[in-house]
Amino acid sequence: MTIRGFPFVFLFLPITIVYASHFRGGTITWRPWNDSQTTSNVQLLVRQRYSWRRGSVYCDDATIASGSLIANGGNAIYVSSTCSSWTISTTAIYCTDYSVGFDVSSGESFYTQSIPANTQFSIGFYSGAWLGVLVVGGGEKWAVTCRINTIVRPNGYINSSPLATTLRVIYKAVNQQHVHVIQMSDNDGTDTLKCRWATSAGNTNSYDEWCWCL
Ligand SMILES: *[C@@H]1O[C@H](CO)[C@@H](O)[C@H](O)[C@H]1NC(C)=O
Repeated sequence: MTIRGFPFVFLFLPITIVYASHFRGGTITWRPWNDSQTTSNVQLLVRQRYSWRRGSVYCDDATIASGSLIANGGNAIYVSSTCSSWTISTTAIYCTDYSVGFDVSSGESFYTQSIPANTQFSIGFYSGAWLGVLVVGGGEKWAVTCRINTIVRPNGYINSSPLATTLRVIYKAVNQQHVHVIQMSDNDGTDTLKCRWATSAGNTNSYDEWCWCL
C-alpha cells in the first residue's frame, strides 16, 4: 500500500494513460469475506480508493447522488505474474467526496475476487506523469501497490490488509523537520503496523514486494 515512483524500469504494458498528470494518489486494500475459509478458494473483498484532480475528473454533489462511475478511462489494476487467478480489474470509482479548494475528486469501489488459499502476489495501479511542480520527483512515474496474501495466519485465519487514512498529497516546507501522523488500523487486532517511506529505488525500511517479474 505504498505510493511511489517506479524502481528501475518502466514496464511496457498496454496501459491507456488517460488521466496521466491528474492523479492524486490512492490505496488498495482487501479483506476476506470469511476469514475461516482457509482452503480451496478465498473470496476477497478488494477496496480501491483514488483521488484525481477535480478539473480533470469532475465531481460535485450531483455526481455523488447519481452514483455513476468516474475516472474510468481504461486504467486497470495489474497483477504480478505469480498469480494467474487475479482478474485484471478497472480502477473506475464512485465519487464519495471532493474539494473545490484543493481541486480534488475522490472516490472508491469494491469488488470480490476469488483467490486460491496459501498464495501471495502483488497488485498495482501505475502510470506516469506524477505532479509536475515538486522539489523532488516532479513528473515522475507513480504506483499504488498492494500485497495480497492468503497464507493462513498462525492463529488459523486468513489475513486482512491494514488500512491507512491520510491526505494523499501533503505539501511540506523543504529542509524542515515535520511530524505527519498517519491513522492506521487492522482487522487483525494483534498485528504490528508499520509505515514505509518509499523512494524511487525501493523502500527505506523493509522488504520491497514491488517485483512484477513480467
Ligand atoms: C466460513 O467458512 C467456514 C469454513 O469453510 C464455514 O464453516 C462457515 O460456515 C463459513 N461462514 C459463513 C458465514 O459462510
